[in-house]
Amino acid sequence: MTTIKSILNEQVGNALCRVSSIEQCKANVITASRPEFGDYQANGIMKVAKRLKQSPRELAAAVVTFLEKKNISLVESYEIAGPGFINIRLNNSELISRANVFLNNPELLVSKTSYPKTIVVDYSSPNLAKEMHVGHLRGTIIGDSLVRILERSGHNIIRQNHVGDWGTQFGMLIAYLQEIQKSKENNLPRQLLDLEHFYRAAKSRFDSDKNFADESRRSVVKLQSGDTESNKLWAQFIEESLSHCDAIYDKLNVTLKREDLDAESRYNNQLSEVVRILEQKNLITISDEAKVIFLPNFVGKDGNILPVIIQKSDGGYLYSTTDLAAIKFRSAELKADRSLYVVDARQSLHFDQVFSVAKAAGIASKKISLEHIAYGTMMGNDGKPFKTRSGDIVKLTELLDEAIKRAYELVTAKNPALDKELRKVIAEKVGIASVKYADLSKNRTSDYIFEWSTMLSFEGNTAPYLMYAYARIKSILKKPEAQNFTANISSLNEIEERLLLVKILQLSEVIQIVAEDCYPNQLCNYLYELAGLFMKFYEACPILKSEERIRNSRLALVSLTAETLNQGLDLLGIETLEQM
Ligand code: ARG
Repeated sequence: MTTIKSILNEQVGNALCRVSSIEQCKANVITASRPEFGDYQANGIMKVAKRLKQSPRELAAAVVTFLEKKNISLVESYEIAGPGFINIRLNNSELISRANVFLNNPELLVSKTSYPKTIVVDYSSPNLAKEMHVGHLRGTIIGDSLVRILERSGHNIIRQNHVGDWGTQFGMLIAYLQEIQKSKENNLPRQLLDLEHFYRAAKSRFDSDKNFADESRRSVVKLQSGDTESNKLWAQFIEESLSHCDAIYDKLNVTLKREDLDAESRYNNQLSEVVRILEQKNLITISDEAKVIFLPNFVGKDGNILPVIIQKSDGGYLYSTTDLAAIKFRSAELKADRSLYVVDARQSLHFDQVFSVAKAAGIASKKISLEHIAYGTMMGNDGKPFKTRSGDIVKLTELLDEAIKRAYELVTAKNPALDKELRKVIAEKVGIASVKYADLSKNRTSDYIFEWSTMLSFEGNTAPYLMYAYARIKSILKKPEAQNFTANISSLNEIEERLLLVKILQLSEVIQIVAEDCYPNQLCNYLYELAGLFMKFYEACPILKSEERIRNSRLALVSLTAETLNQGLDLLGIETLEQM
């Protein structure tokens, strides 16, 4: 169903064009900042008036006259305000009939785009040499929410988990694996249970023993030249590391599957071709025997142009080279319209450069939009990047276990009488949801402070608050007096009912914005406001004690609220509970 905002944009925009005789002017409709002003407001008049050197209020008056003549059923009334805004109040029976369509067809709550695109979403993408740590949390969570939102909006989504599984580190790990294998135990699976530990052990061998370091370097060469034994060990290591990732994805309720893998190694034999294309386009310069590209728009602090290294003097390729090959694949094979990279903001320069090279070399198609969906760093309470007390990187699996443990204490404090097993199930959902929601509800580009006490609070814009609100709403619907109501809203006389209903109808509008600009925190804010409006409605409007028609209508509104909250949280990758 077309959203209210789109209809208003179209109608008011059209009126504005007709009245001003300017083609393609925008109505710029937004939701009203205060309910007293109406439901929506059109802000586009002033800009057009300025162009025409006309009084904005006069132009607004002409637009309103035009619209009133047209008699749009959705609109109850228009009002000119301030320097030339048009406040719009919607018609109650139109609101009710929209809501009733959703009640009977909840899948329509989020409308499908009329312009489905093929969108590649590169997210999570850990380096497989190490175990997933907190640095991977944001990208994994934000990326997964975006794929859910884009998919639900009707786009064709291709997930790409661009794991780092190639390069010098793997030489070191293979050399270390070989060493262990030769020694007494030969119990590789056990050694690899703790990948972080394994990596550190290998690294300290590498740093302290020159022979081992040399052996590591030889290992990389062997691996890259296709030596069977090295490749077997490498594959064994990668398999182990991937199963660690799978366990995390499972725990986090993240939709990434093995078939979404787009490992760096996949591009090995396409890298020389990338270099050939760049050479053919005369983009490559030789600098210190390395092949580099200088793009005039990338200037470093010292005023010199920053090079993009494509191939080292020893023939080795780089992260950028692989990303160029991946762009070629996403562009030419996957035929993507958009390619999103949900990656740490500290890689901004890398992506700016790679995107520019890809465009300049024609590696990226004309139509593809390459977008770095950057996110800030997760900080500890001390304002520094999040670490353990001893200064180590925090493993993701340990962080999630702690979240569940803390949620268990929270649930027990809130509801000690609840069966222990049930409390455990609830704690698992609440713990994971809290970590995810805390992240999603912040503007992704800022750094944010990871704080247990706020994320696990029942107050404020948190997962426990929203999940609890949902469980309460569901409990109303479970009451004996609430059984057998018909899914039909018929009354909107109270302001609280009306505000709640208008909000529900806006889910799709919010989703459309997030699908464009990829800031899921807007959906979080929406759900938080929705829950707040529900609470106000619940306090002001008796439900079960009302006479039958009103009771039925309000129960239907309650049920539509529950549906909206549930769907919204699902799009964030958060599971709801009927009881907490
Ligand atoms: N593996 C990289 C890292 O851990 C992230 C990869 C992001 N995706 C990409 N196409 N470069 O930093």
